[in-house]
Amino acid sequence: MSQALDRTDIDVYLREVGLRDGLQNVTAFFPTEAKIEWIAAEAAAGVTDIEVCSFVPPKLIPQFQDALDVVAAAKKIGGFNISTLMPNLKGAERGIEAGVDQLNYVTSISQTHNLKNVRRTPQESVEDFKTIVAYRDQKADETGKKVKLLAGCATAFGCTLEGDIDPKAVVNIAKQFVLAGADEISLADTVGFAHPDQIKNLCRQVMDEVDVPITIHLHDTRGMGVVNAYAAYEAGVRRFDGCLGGLGGCPWAPGATGNVVMEDMAFMFEAMGLKTGIDLDKLCAVREIVKRELPDEPLSGGIAKAGMPMNFAPASTLAAAAE
Ligand code: COA
Ligand code: ZN
Repeated sequence: MSQALDRTDIDVYLREVGLRDGLQNVTAFFPTEAKIEWIAAEAAAGVTDIEVCSFVPPKLIPQFQDALDVVAAAKKIGGFNISTLMPNLKGAERGIEAGVDQLNYVTSISQTHNLKNVRRTPQESVEDFKTIVAYRDQKADETGKKVKLLAGCATAFGCTLEGDIDPKAVVNIAKQFVLAGADEISLADTVGFAHPDQIKNLCRQVMDEVDVPITIHLHDTRGMGVVNAYAAYEAGVRRFDGCLGGLGGCPWAPGATGNVVMEDMAFMFEAMGLKTGIDLDKLCAVREIVKRELPDEPLSGGIAKAGMPMNFAPASTLAAAAE
C-alpha cells in the first residue's frame, strides 16, 4: 500500500468497482492493457479492494472477454483484495480457477429486475448460491484457499421496475444468504432511490439479523451518494463500493446511472480522520487513464475538479507519518 498502512490499520474499506460496474455499461472495448494500468495505478494509490472484472458470458457482455488476463495481471500487481462479479456457478468456477480472493454474487430483491438481470427469481438465486458455496468449500478443501463469497442484494432500496422494495424482503434474503454460507452481504441502491434515513434504517435492520460484514453499494443518480455513504457509516457499515469518476450503472436496470464517486468518498472519510489507506492525489491522477480511453464519458467528482481544501490533512498520511 502506498502509505505503508496494512489492512489492520484501515478504518473504512473502499472498493473500486469501476472496472466492473463502470465498464459493464461501456460498449467500446476498454483495452486489456489499459484495464491493467488502471488497476496498477489504483493499487499504487493504496486502494485496498478492487473488483477487477466480471465472470459473465462474454457473449452477453463482451467487455469482460479478457477476464482471465485481467485477473492474472491483478495477481501479479498484488497488495489488494482481488474480487470479481459472478452471476452463477459457472462464473464461480471460472473465478476460482483464475485465483481471485473474493467472488461477488448478485441477486436483485426486485423479482422483475432479477428475472431481467439473471433470468431467475430471487428465491432461485438463493438456491443457486447454495451450490456455489458447496463448490467453493470443495475447492477450499482441495487447494487450501478459501475464496470469500459476498452475496449482494441489488435494488434493496427501490427499483425502477417495481417501485418500493419491502425492507423485510431484503432482510429475509440476506439472512438466507448468510445461513447458506455468505462471508459478506452487500446492500445495493442500484438505481439511486435511497435517502440517508432509509440507508441507516435498512443497514441497521440487516446488521441486527446477520453477523457478517455489510458492504454498501451506492449509485449517485439523485446526488445522494456521499451523504448515503455517511449514513451507512453512522449505522456501523465500514465497507463501501465506489467508482472512479462516478462511472457505472446496470444495463438491465432502466435509469441506473453512475456510482458514488470513489475520490469524493475517500476525501470525506480521510477528512473525518478515518483511514482508507488511499493517497487522494494519486487516486485523482488515475482519472487520466479513464479519460484517455473514454474521452466521451463524462467523469464526475468534486475533489478532482476543485482540489483538496487548504491545510487538508488526510488521516492515512498522518498515520503513515507517525509510524
Ligand atoms: N461465464 C461464461 N459463460 C457462461 C456463464 C458464465 N458465468 N454462465 C453461462 N455461460 C454460458 C453457458 O455455458 C452457455 O453457453 P453455450 O450457449 O455455449 O452452451 C450460455 O452461456 C448460456 O448459459 P445459461 O446457463 O443458459 O445462461 P443464461 O443465458 O440463462 O444467462 C446468466 C444467465 C446469469 C449467465 C446471465 O443472465 C448473466 O450473466 N447475467 C448477469 C448480467 C450482469 O452482469 N448484470 C450486471 C451486474 S448486476
Ligand atoms: Zn451498481
